[in-house]
Amino acid sequence: MNFQNKKYNRKEFITFLGKVTLGANFIPPFLMSYGNTSKPIKTGDISNKQLKKLKKLSLEGLVASDQDDLLLTKGLDYHVILKWNDKINNEDRFGFNCDYNCFIPIDPKNPNDGLLWVNHEYINPLFVSGFNYRDAKNIKTKKQVDEEMYNVGGSIVRIKKENEKWQVVHNDPHNRRITAKTPMKLNWDQPLKGKTTVIGTLANCSGGITPWNTFLTCEENYDGYYGDNQYDKNNKPTKIPSYYGWDKFYDYPPEHYGWVVEIDPKDGKAQKHIALGRFAHECCTLFQLDDNRIVAYTGDDKNDEHLYKFVSSKPNSLKEGTLYVADMKKGKWLALDWENQSILKSKFKDQTEVLIRVREASKLLGATELNRPEDIEIDPITGNIFVSLTNNKYKGDYHGSILKIEENNGEFDSLNFNSSTYMTGGEKSGFSCPDNLAFDFSGNLWITSDISGYSMNKFDGPYMPFKNNSLFVIPRYGNYAGKVIRVASAPRDAELTGPWFAPDGKSLFLSVQHPGERTTDINNPTSKWPFDQDKIPKPSVVAITGDLIEKMNYLNKIES
Ligand code: FEO
Ligand code: CA
Ligand code: CA
Ligand code: CA
Repeated sequence: MNFQNKKYNRKEFITFLGKVTLGANFIPPFLMSYGNTSKPIKTGDISNKQLKKLKKLSLEGLVASDQDDLLLTKGLDYHVILKWNDKINNEDRFGFNCDYNCFIPIDPKNPNDGLLWVNHEYINPLFVSGFNYRDAKNIKTKKQVDEEMYNVGGSIVRIKKENEKWQVVHNDPHNRRITAKTPMKLNWDQPLKGKTTVIGTLANCSGGITPWNTFLTCEENYDGYYGDNQYDKNNKPTKIPSYYGWDKFYDYPPEHYGWVVEIDPKDGKAQKHIALGRFAHECCTLFQLDDNRIVAYTGDDKNDEHLYKFVSSKPNSLKEGTLYVADMKKGKWLALDWENQSILKSKFKDQTEVLIRVREASKLLGATELNRPEDIEIDPITGNIFVSLTNNKYKGDYHGSILKIEENNGEFDSLNFNSSTYMTGGEKSGFSCPDNLAFDFSGNLWITSDISGYSMNKFDGPYMPFKNNSLFVIPRYGNYAGKVIRVASAPRDAELTGPWFAPDGKSLFLSVQHPGERTTDINNPTSKWPFDQDKIPKPSVVAITGDLIEKMNYLNKIES
């Protein structure tokens, strides 16, 4: 299907939005993809008076800061929606280290009431279970592991905006936790290590949304929990030990983790999509073709790993189809297809083994090693695919870049593409280590940075000029077009993750992940954000609001 030439399909859009009645002034400024960007409900709902007000706003960036606070540029405000350990119902609590956010309205006509999905990527044992690895005598107990298992996965929480503030609807029947103990089915015909149902999801970094309105949550650094099996040239496995030591109490095979997981918001039912391969998935960004086949882009966030694309052979399937890996030099998508690739047949016993050991299979096919491919978004105006390459310090790439991929003729199921660097990180551009990406409704690109806590603010290091991790926007139109503007600065040691626009473009949901990560003494934490009565840092989801968010989302309308 040709993206550039695709005429806006009103029926498709109405189907997606459900029962919404579209006003005469409803003119969607963009075409649809299913990445980490929300679906607007009322882009036309803005008065001339409001437009005049928005036009007057100037866009002033923040200077880099090492202050322990969530700082916002002029025109923005924030309030905390959910903090770690907050009760979401009588049984459940909000998990640790929130990452990806995704919001689906319950009634498509009301953008102010819906279900928020939040990933809980990993735990800091010092805060979560009280385990301190710095104390040699400290041995982790099963109880501590159980608490850690509860704190990863994800949360479904109904939230409502009332009096301009988003609030949790406590005890709403949708509110639930998905954890490392939740049983879930494999969407595959063969069992993995003898199982068709596996226990739990973990390492949930970023994600995506499907055209059928379910959440995708991606298992990234899965090897930290139950280790992994590494194979020698004779196909003999060696167990790599886990970092968190859960395998001491739970004998779950590493092969059950490292997948893209789909969650049904209505009942919390989860399934793992084996056809999309097993690796450190950062995100999963979908595009629905005219015949309803699905294209899914997903990157492996590890030094020298790869970029993948799944193309389904059946409508709305994440099972039937082919997984491809990118050869950037030739601009080709290489099929990870055991049946038709003799080199894969000689190494692996079947397609299931290819999918489990997809990194090895990709290298055999000659796929290109990339510098930590993280988040992926489809530009809503051009259909180009943007991929964050965070960094690769061992190869001397400290600041990363953003890669642009143009599929041949704009056809998402094409096997050929062109690629180029859209922007390079560094002092000149003003950002370093790009991670999450989000396009707003006008096509401005928002970027979060992921400078590691241990490198940040080191006076003699390459990251010193950038100070704390931040949120940036690259405006598409006007005087600031193409400039990188810092709009938010994170609390100490933290990373801003999971940017997601509310469907009316008036709020930006954002996670503040791992504030105070370098704390060694819980009584003297390196951060106290969000400054509640407990006086310890708490990963939290905030809503950023204000004229600037609205201005950016309606910018194309202002210009026209
Ligand atoms: Fe969990 Fe690749 O960031
Ligand atoms: Ca994103
Ligand atoms: Ca990330
Ligand atoms: Ca990251």
